[in-house]
Amino acid sequence: MRIAIGADHGGFDYKNKILAHLKDKGYEIKDFGTYSSDSCDYPVFAKAVAEAVAGGEFDRGILICGTGIGMSIAANKVKGIRAALCSDTFSAHATREHNDSNVLCLGARVIGDQLALDIVDMWLKTDFSAGERHIRRIKMLEDV
Ligand code: RB5
Repeated sequence: MRIAIGADHGGFDYKNKILAHLKDKGYEIKDFGTYSSDSCDYPVFAKAVAEAVAGGEFDRGILICGTGIGMSIAANKVKGIRAALCSDTFSAHATREHNDSNVLCLGARVIGDQLALDIVDMWLKTDFSAGERHIRRIKMLEDV
């Protein structure tokens, strides 16, 4: 699985922790920045990661900002992206099974770093259920 990851300054430290965690686990992962804790604009990184996933270059994307909210708003503007902001492992599991989410958003000022890693692990390992009703609803999202 090829993963694209990005963050703004609010998510910079968490991005580095998630990167190290996923590299240790053997994932192929590309860092789209930001590359320092200097203040920057989250839509830039959301767009880069979302377009890389929507274009098929990467299978999944992970975006981190202070709340995760700006990243999820921005990522969901890219056609084909289903970005899910998660603060618990139940939602991470459910959004993969039900929404086939292809981008995970996290709020570094909202959750602890160990919980963030648990959410990432749960989200990456959970398959889409491929249930008929879920496929139908996901298709409907394309027309919203
Ligand atoms: C940056 O201060 C903060 O606004 C950003 O990280 C994020 O929380 C936006 O949604």
